[in-house]
Amino acid sequence: MSSYYKHHVFFCLNERDDGKACCADHNAKAMQEYAKKRCKQLGIAGAEGRVRINKAGCLNRCELGPVLVVYPEAVWYTFVDQQDIDEIIDSHLVNGVPVERLMVDR
Ligand code: FES
Repeated sequence: MSSYYKHHVFFCLNERDDGKACCADHNAKAMQEYAKKRCKQLGIAGAEGRVRINKAGCLNRCELGPVLVVYPEAVWYTFVDQQDIDEIIDSHLVNGVPVERLMVDR
């Protein structure tokens, strides 16, 4: 069975107030919103373009955050700014080439 979305992306947006590391402390929310907007602009979002950008709770890799994961490939990324998000979108989501330099597991 093939996956419904060509690429299904989950951004951890979890916020902690116990002083432990969390993705929300690293601009995750703004980057998720940016990714969603950019995919829409590129025409790759939703049922037609088959890319879906979702929010997630804690993905349990907090120390490596901020993190996002792209399925069905199960490639985990970390990111700093819009340029990193652009690179993930352009290379991985549009051209199918994962971005080695931003991967959490190498
Ligand atoms: S807070 Fe993002 S992985 Fe746990």
